[in-house]
Amino acid sequence: MARFEGRVAIVSGGSSGIGRATVLQLAREGCTVVVADVQDELGTEVVREVTAAGGRATYSHLDVADEANWTAVVEQTLADHGGLDILVNNAGIGDDQPIEATTTQTWDKVVAVTQTSVFLGMRAAAEALKASGRGSVINVSSMFGIVGGFGTGPAYHSAKGAVRLLSKSAALGWATEGVRVNSVHPGFIETPILGETDRAMLAEATPMGRLGTPDEVASLIAFLAGDEAGFITGAEFVVDGGYTAR
Ligand code: NAI
Repeated sequence: MARFEGRVAIVSGGSSGIGRATVLQLAREGCTVVVADVQDELGTEVVREVTAAGGRATYSHLDVADEANWTAVVEQTLADHGGLDILVNNAGIGDDQPIEATTTQTWDKVVAVTQTSVFLGMRAAAEALKASGRGSVINVSSMFGIVGGFGTGPAYHSAKGAVRLLSKSAALGWATEGVRVNSVHPGFIETPILGETDRAMLAEATPMGRLGTPDEVASLIAFLAGDEAGFITGAEFVVDGGYTAR
């Protein structure tokens, strides 16, 4: 039997990059996946791709910073698919200025979408995940939630660092309730979030000398989602080509 047959997942930020790769990988292994994002057209395209390959997926519009949106998406998921087993809090945005050039507006926006979103998602999904009895939450942080990087992007680093500890706190709170919570910390991965950033410079900064692929992160997320990771909770996993080993 496929690894995720009979299970249901919500993947935030599932329209692009790491989220999209995660949707495709979970669906390939039998999972019913709710692609949840603000990029509706791209997300619908991902659903089409899953369905064309014989998998099951639906699209829900979700602004992860919006409390009411989260409630609606979880309710819709339960109504459409009858349960929820896996929550991948993957959506995030970054900032790239030094502290003194960072506006309060930028700070608030990045923290809302990258950090508060993870709290809102776990809170909205809590009861459904407990009811599953084999719930798994994977929070996509960053290697920049562990180390200071280039000394810029204060909101991103703070938010990603917070996601790391929020994951451990939730893991302990739910340790005997059938819900595991872990964080994943990618290095530089080739996705649209990198914008115009010089890829050669990023590869040079990475011990393995290259960027990672979305699939290389998705396979770690899928491992943590499944029963093979049944004794793993409150843990953090880097997938960064050696960056944080230095
Ligand atoms: P991406 O830009 O390809 O995907 C991010 C997705 O999140 C997009 O589909 C976007 O529409 C969605 N999103 C943005 N704001 C949203 C909101 N308010 N509500 C719902 N969805 C929203 O980028 P990527 O790389 O796939 O990013 C996924 C996660 O991985 C992010 O949390 C990012 O911080 C993290 N990450 C990425 C790294 C990289 O080098 N690509 C490195 C470390 C962490």
